[in-house]
Amino acid sequence: MQSGNAIRFLLGDQPQTLSNPPPTMTVLEYLRKTEHMTGTKEGCAEGDCGACTVVLGNAENGKMRYRAVNSCIMFVPFLHGQQLITVEHLKNPDGELHAVQQAMVEEHGSQCGFCTPGFIMSMFAMYHNQCPTDRQSIDNALAGNLCRCTGYAPIVRACRKALKSTTKDQFDRKENKTVRSISALDARTTVEINSNGQKYYAPRTTSDLARILESHPESRIVAGATDVGLWVTKQRHYLETVIYTGAVESLTAIDIDDGYIRIGAAVTISDAMAVLAEHYDSLDELFIRYGSDQIRNLATLGGNVANGSPIGDSLPALVALDARLLINSAQQTRTVAAEDFFIDYGKQDLAPGEFLERIDVPLPQERQEFRIFKISKRFHQDISAVCGAFSVTIHGNRVQTARVCYGGMATTPLRARNCEKALIGNSLTAEDVKQAREALDMDFTPITDFRGSSSYRSAVAAGLLERFADELRSGEKIGVRQVQHA
Ligand SMILES: Cc1cc2nc3c(=O)[nH]c(=O)nc-3n(C[C@H](O)[C@H](O)[C@H](O)COP(=O)(O)OP(=O)(O)OC[C@H]3O[C@@H](n4cnc5c(N)ncnc54)[C@H](O)[C@@H]3O)c2cc1C
Ligand code: FES
Ligand code: FES
Repeated sequence: MQSGNAIRFLLGDQPQTLSNPPPTMTVLEYLRKTEHMTGTKEGCAEGDCGACTVVLGNAENGKMRYRAVNSCIMFVPFLHGQQLITVEHLKNPDGELHAVQQAMVEEHGSQCGFCTPGFIMSMFAMYHNQCPTDRQSIDNALAGNLCRCTGYAPIVRACRKALKSTTKDQFDRKENKTVRSISALDARTTVEINSNGQKYYAPRTTSDLARILESHPESRIVAGATDVGLWVTKQRHYLETVIYTGAVESLTAIDIDDGYIRIGAAVTISDAMAVLAEHYDSLDELFIRYGSDQIRNLATLGGNVANGSPIGDSLPALVALDARLLINSAQQTRTVAAEDFFIDYGKQDLAPGEFLERIDVPLPQERQEFRIFKISKRFHQDISAVCGAFSVTIHGNRVQTARVCYGGMATTPLRARNCEKALIGNSLTAEDVKQAREALDMDFTPITDFRGSSSYRSAVAAGLLERFADELRSGEKIGVRQVQHA
């Protein structure tokens, strides 16, 4: 195994090499304290406000791909082999503002200015990803940026104006050169950092990952760090040894074969969502409400599963769809059904030395109907109070098989087995659904917390079952709340 203790990346278009950087130093800290680039701001330090938004550039098939991310919870070594773009890099060398900056000026999109660099960077990523200019698409893409002064109308106007611009920017003009500069970084080595005793490993193969994990049982696996990053920035945890999964090729791959969509554990939510929603369109609605663009571009499907939160949004879907998890270690490889993986609150079926390699989601069957509904206090950027996933097959007009799973109703995501039994064989008439609701009552005794009382959760769970039956009966998909704006 070829390894090195330096990370190499482009800062704007300048190659940078950092030898043994502190493994859990955030990109925001690095920018502000090491580079003295203070355009990128710190608001919340937990991925919520977007003031710290930067853009990562990756070379994929000879083209650059740009993604907005939160620099406040991203660790510096993750930059290896990528381009880091901040608000300081957007202006042309002749001083001319970028189209997104110019539009913000013209539309008065900035007041105190604290949030502005973050909005600019999100808009820059939207500009390069040809984001549609309708209000809903703009709202979805800007949901991870908060402004407390200006009001959103001028910001949205500026965004729409910039997105309509057809001129190529300096990043388009330099694309080939940037691709070459990234490849010259020669970043395909295993990174092994030791910074004052704090260690970081970024293996490239599953066997190296298994071996490193076996020899460092005290280590913490990190993928997108959208959970782990907060342990560092908010809870001040010291992580002695970090093993990063984002460089392991098989963990970042997506394949479709033998009836399954096979998603590597380190595939981001954004990339997983694209393929999963192609086959289960209800998931598109769920994932648009999962964190923000910045979070979805870092967070991984494997991280969501391994974290095992009872309100992790992908989990009810994976259980209802009967997904399989491939677990690997230096000793053995095994497969476990998603529903068996979640043992109790904070307890998953993962022994020391084991890691989650892949999530296999069955392709839809004929006559299968799948819906998932998330209920949270805010539409965007909020964790579920209750999430219900329903997967049934219908023969004639009767339910032949049923898998129903709720998040937020128990200490783990849990199947509603009494409800499933009541659904099987019936045809979802109002009377049938009433019986299934009564059965559902026997499935859960939900907790009361700040997201909802026990009785609220029970009422919501029953409401989601009704909604599922209504959609199937009417043949219509009620779908996400589409807010209409001028
Ligand atoms: C602002 C914000 C909004 C959020 N919104 C949502 C939301 O709407 N819905 C939602 O469900 N979640 C949400 N989250 C939580 C978080 O984004 C998810 O749980 C995410 O999927 C975690 O993935 P990650 O790659 O960032 O995990 P990490 O933080 O890297 O890791 C999480 C845990 O999984 C373990 N782990 C990671 N990969 C593996 C592996 N391959 N094998 C074994 N263990 C592994 C880590 O050791 C750690 O214990 C939000 C978080 C933030 C900060
Ligand atoms: S500082 Fe608020 S999202 Fe990063
Ligand atoms: S302009 Fe002040 S926070 Fe947005």
